[in-house]
Amino acid sequence: MKSEAISLTGLSVAVTGAGNGIGRAIAQHFARAGARVTIGDIDGAAAEATAAAIGERVVAALDVTDPDGFAAFLDAAEDRHGPLDVLVNNAGIDWIGPFHEEPDAVSRREIEVNLLGSVYGARLAVQRMLPRGRGHIVNVASGAGRVPLPGSAVYAATKHGIVGLTESLRLEYRDSGLRFSLIQPAQVETGMLAGQARPRLLPIVTPDDVAAAVVGAVRDNRFEVWVPASQGITAKLGAALPRPAREAVMRALGVGRIAGDTDRTARRSYHDRMFGQH
Ligand SMILES: NC(=O)c1ccc[n+]([C@@H]2O[C@H](COP(=O)([O-])OP(=O)(O)OC[C@H]3O[C@@H](n4cnc5c(N)ncnc54)[C@H](O)[C@@H]3O)[C@@H](O)[C@H]2O)c1
Repeated sequence: MKSEAISLTGLSVAVTGAGNGIGRAIAQHFARAGARVTIGDIDGAAAEATAAAIGERVVAALDVTDPDGFAAFLDAAEDRHGPLDVLVNNAGIDWIGPFHEEPDAVSRREIEVNLLGSVYGARLAVQRMLPRGRGHIVNVASGAGRVPLPGSAVYAATKHGIVGLTESLRLEYRDSGLRFSLIQPAQVETGMLAGQARPRLLPIVTPDDVAAAVVGAVRDNRFEVWVPASQGITAKLGAALPRPAREAVMRALGVGRIAGDTDRTARRSYHDRMFGQH
């Protein structure tokens, strides 16, 4: 359901994973639009750098897998900026490699950060927003929430989970005044891309492209947002094809190469940073 555009000036906005990449750009774009932004990231130094860049005081270390810590983060956001208007569940991690080689602890961490982190964030935000009858929850999924990503199956599973979560919440709370958005970017030029193959026929976008789409989704109340928009059309046309044709198209586009042809040496430092020494 689309409704009138709202003003972003003065909105209280909290962004997770805002120390780097897409989250950092989202924080910057909301700040530029006049919103009051609270920044959370497990990497406290990166969060501080984002805060300094947008002239905010930081709410530094946030681990989205800790519900009490997440609640404290939102409390701090509300103390400083007033009742929460927008939560962007953006923090996410991506282990790439053959499924049968992925350590259980890595799979667990990926599910905890990407999926449970979004569940905790959404629930805490709904609890705050419901009595007020307003608020907007933005979940950053991925194109890999709608299509498969061989070579990164658990990541794709978490993103499909975020799609199911957000689609369900939209219906569950449809008469509550709450709004939801589901962001589905293609490959984005951030640290998460380290070592990944870049198939020629698939688009690569910038964190600014995604941030502009997120800000637009909140302003104009858009639910399903693909970045770039053309990817949504491709995915929807593809979904209408019989399975053998659909899979042939995906192979021709190079979907299997994204994670399948990853340079594991180039990827190592990203894996070490996000997952420790697994
Ligand atoms: N880069 C891409 O190609 C791409 C494509 C589609 C979707 N996405 C999604 O966009 C989101 C942002 O990814 P990015 O590309 O900016 O990656 P990034 O690695 O540049 O940034 C992710 C941020 O999340 C933080 N983070 C990690 N674990 C956390 C935790 N437990 N609690 C709080 N913060 C944590 C990291 O410290 C980092 O600052 C993710 O959900 C990702 O899955 C990325």
